[in-house]
Amino acid sequence: MPRPIIIDTDPGQDDAVALLLALAAPEELDVRGITTVAGNVPLELTTRNALMMVELAGRPDIAVYAGCDRPMVRDLITAEYVHGKTGIDGADTPPPRTTPADQHAVEFIIETCRATPGITLCTLGPLTNMGTALEQAPDIAGTIAQLVLMGGGFFEGGNTTPAAEFNIYVDPQAAALVFGSGIDLVMMPLDVTHRALTSDARVDAFRDLGTASGAAVAGMLEFFERYDMERYGTEGAPLHDPTVIAYLLEPGIFDGRRCRVDIETASELTMGMTVVDWWGLTTDEPNCFVVHQIDDERFFALLTERIGLLP
Ligand code: BDR
Ligand code: CA
Repeated sequence: MPRPIIIDTDPGQDDAVALLLALAAPEELDVRGITTVAGNVPLELTTRNALMMVELAGRPDIAVYAGCDRPMVRDLITAEYVHGKTGIDGADTPPPRTTPADQHAVEFIIETCRATPGITLCTLGPLTNMGTALEQAPDIAGTIAQLVLMGGGFFEGGNTTPAAEFNIYVDPQAAALVFGSGIDLVMMPLDVTHRALTSDARVDAFRDLGTASGAAVAGMLEFFERYDMERYGTEGAPLHDPTVIAYLLEPGIFDGRRCRVDIETASELTMGMTVVDWWGLTTDEPNCFVVHQIDDERFFALLTERIGLLP
C-alpha cells in the first residue's frame, strides 16, 4: 500500500523538484493533496507554481489547496533574491490550466489528518499551515505518524541570519508549535542539504532525459545555482527540499540521531534558531530525528531515475 502523505510547500525551484519526485513515485507515495504557504514568494505565486508542477507531472488529479498568506505572528519575508520573481524562474513551463481547490489548506490538513490516522506530513516551507492547524486542532498531533521537514541548521548555522535557516526564521512561532507537538519529527537541516549540491553533470543528466519535466528541472536548477555559487563560492546549489521526499523513498541514503530540538522565539539576535541537543546535554526527551549525513551520489541517482519516469 502506498504511504498516504500531504506535501506542504512554497515553490521555490527546490520545492518544485521535490513535488516532481513525489509525483513520480505513485507506488510508494499516495499524495492526498498539496498545500501551499507564503514563503519563497507570496502565496498566489506558490499556489500557481504548485499547479504548474502537478500539470507538468501529468497529475492534475492531485488537488492543490492554498493556505496561509502570512506567518502566524511576524511579517512575511520572501526570497526572490534566491528564487527569482516567480519563485520557479528557469522552469519555462506554461501557465496553469487548472485552479486551486476551494477549501483552505489548514482546513484540508485538519480534515485529512482526522480521516487518515497514520498519515505522513512533508513540509518544505515555513511551518505556518501546520502551526495553525495544530493551534486549531491539537488532536491531529495524535493522528500523524511522522512529519518530515526541511528546515533548521545546527553545525552549519543559518542561511537567512547567522543563527537561522529560512523556513524556520520566516515563522518561528509556527515551528515552535510543531516541535512542541509530540509528533514524531524528522528534520533535514542545512547541515545535510548543503551536501546535496548540483553540478554541471548532475544538471545535464536531467536535461538528457529528453522530457518536458527533465528540461524544466535542468532550467530551474541552472537559475537556482547562481545564488549559492555567487554568494558562497560553492560548486553548485543545495537541493534542500527533495531530501524530504528522498527520505521517504530511500531512508538508507541518510543517517542522523534522535535529539531534543527547540526553537528560539524570544531573542531577535537568534530568532528562529533550531537549538539541537546533539550531545544529550539536557534531560529533555528527544523529539526529532536530526539528519546529519547524506549519500549525495545515491540521492542524485534516485532523483534522475524517478524524474525520468515523468512526461
Ligand atoms: C529552504 O528555504 C527555501 O529557500 C528553500 O525552498 C528551502 O525550503 C532552505 O533554507
Ligand atoms: Ca521550500
